[in-house]
Amino acid sequence: MPILLRPVARPLFAGVFLALMTVGLAAFAQNAESDTEEVVPFALPQAGPFKPADIDIENNEAITNWFRSAHANAAAEAFRHWDDEGEVQPACATCHSGEGFRDFHGLDGTPAGVVDGPINTGGVVDCGTCHNAGLAQIEDVTLPSGVVHPVTGVEASCLTCHQGRAAGATVAGATTGMADDEPNGELKFINPHYATAAATWLGGYGAAGYHYDGKEYSGRFFHARPVASCNSCHEPHTLEVEFEPCLTCHEANAPEDIRIARQSYDGSGNTGVGIVSDITANAQLLLELLRDYTDEVVGAPVIYDGNRYPYFFADANGDGEIDMNAEGRPIPYDSWTPRSLRTAFNWKLVTADPGNFAHNPAYSLELLYDSIEDLGEPLGIDMDELNLLR
Ligand code: HEC
Ligand code: HEC
Ligand code: HEC
Ligand code: HEC
Ligand code: HEC
Repeated sequence: MPILLRPVARPLFAGVFLALMTVGLAAFAQNAESDTEEVVPFALPQAGPFKPADIDIENNEAITNWFRSAHANAAAEAFRHWDDEGEVQPACATCHSGEGFRDFHGLDGTPAGVVDGPINTGGVVDCGTCHNAGLAQIEDVTLPSGVVHPVTGVEASCLTCHQGRAAGATVAGATTGMADDEPNGELKFINPHYATAAATWLGGYGAAGYHYDGKEYSGRFFHARPVASCNSCHEPHTLEVEFEPCLTCHEANAPEDIRIARQSYDGSGNTGVGIVSDITANAQLLLELLRDYTDEVVGAPVIYDGNRYPYFFADANGDGEIDMNAEGRPIPYDSWTPRSLRTAFNWKLVTADPGNFAHNPAYSLELLYDSIEDLGEPLGIDMDELNLLR
């Protein structure tokens, strides 16, 4: 297995060859064990179940597509982050390696719900992550909010890894009993994590966002039958969204152009653009207000830098430059208040999902609106004047 996962295997033909080899080897390993153990067949959601040995050259396309996708990109930070440590931490392995995923769900024969480890570095989202007979036995996944969501088949895979790592409840827990606008050095930025598509998609029901008392949130985005699941829009190997099928119901030049809403959410009055434009504009406004709030209300301005963890840094003198410590390292922001923390969380959650407009536009807009309103209060901003819609 490891050979396939090395970045040096990137050249396409070598990769396909190695991928085929790997499938072959897996079959071999299973056959070798079959004297003592039952052969576990791979189950394809539609075509299975069948044994790995049955995967022949016709799978070339699936393999090639997969090999070119982010899931197979063994050079990505998402798979190499643990190289220096020599093994992938249990807390991370579920989503950062097929081996960790199988361990977490008990598909490797170990107890489910925990990564027993150790999990080798060098793993990617391999075939056996999604093509695994054991997936059929997974009945639900538990989201960071604590909500237990029922799943069937391959959905279990996407929803396990793309659910994010924190929820509004995490933020509420960290700030209980604190005054809204009082900075607290113990508060740290809570990162919802990355590629949080399932969190957006499940909306208010999944409760990934920070929800405000007295507000209602749109639930899961049911959309329409032909586009009701992750892999009905995303080809599961290339991961790309096929645009053609969208045109059955939408008139647009690209997913980003799609709009059904006849009203403007961002106060621009422009309804000739895709709904993503409203989401992006409100997210931008929210980030600006966060800066104003930390500057004017807290007296400790924050700067966002998307390229550096933990993304929010100090700018004590307000000159627009990130403060550096004696070693020349950027100083993480440490004047969080409950209000800045929850609004920054919602902002990051919405913007961490580049597909927010297709996964759940209503929920995205609601979280942004409520957070803008939250920051607007101490800033004395009149929501009516902003002319936004929720
Ligand atoms: C619930 C699943 C899940 C868990 C648990 C998880 N991650 Fe991730 N992580 C993801 C996904 C999905 C991505 C892919 C985002 C992308 O690059 O598209 C990601 C991306 C990353 C990246 C790459 C970010 C970038 O900018 O490219 C790093 C680094 C990372 N995770 C670190 C961690 C660490 C450290 C842990 C454990 C402490 C962890 N993750 C646990 C799902 C998870
Ligand atoms: C992220 C999950 C995922 C991964 C990883 C994955 N597959 Fe699939 N694969 C699927 C799903 C879902 C389908 C069913 C598609 C459908 O609904 O028709 C599928 C279908 C297939 C099919 C049936 C033909 C087709 O393309 O629809 C083959 C063959 C296949 N996969 C082989 C592989 C091989 C070999 C690998 C590894 C190189 C792999 N898959 C990796 C999810 C995955
Ligand atoms: C074992 C965890 C895991 C599973 C299961 C998984 N993903 Fe991913 N996914 C990831 C990680 C990690 C990345 C980021 C990889 C990288 O940075 O190269 C990612 C990236 C993606 C991307 C981004 C592609 C891009 O070009 O950046 C899409 C889309 C995606 N996954 C969709 C899916 C779908 C749909 C499913 C279910 C059929 C699924 N994923 C199952 C972990 C997973
Ligand atoms: C209605 C169709 C649709 C459904 C359903 C859907 N997506 Fe998406 N997704 C998109 C679109 C459109 C984008 C925007 C980026 C693009 O065009 O590739 C996107 C983007 C993404 C990205 C970010 C890709 C990147 O470039 O970084 C990930 C990850 C992702 N989706 C995963 C999922 C998962 C997991 C599910 C199921 C919970 C899902 N999607 C359901 C249409 C959909
Ligand atoms: C079978 C019909 C159908 C198909 C196919 C379809 N959609 Fe939709 N779409 C709808 C309907 C109906 C709505 C309104 C749903 C609602 O608001 O509850 C919608 C809403 C949307 C919205 C939100 C627009 C807004 O102004 O709020 C986006 C974005 C979107 N679809 C993207 C896509 C993408 C991308 C695809 C293709 C991958 C797609 N849709 C395929 C029927 C469809």
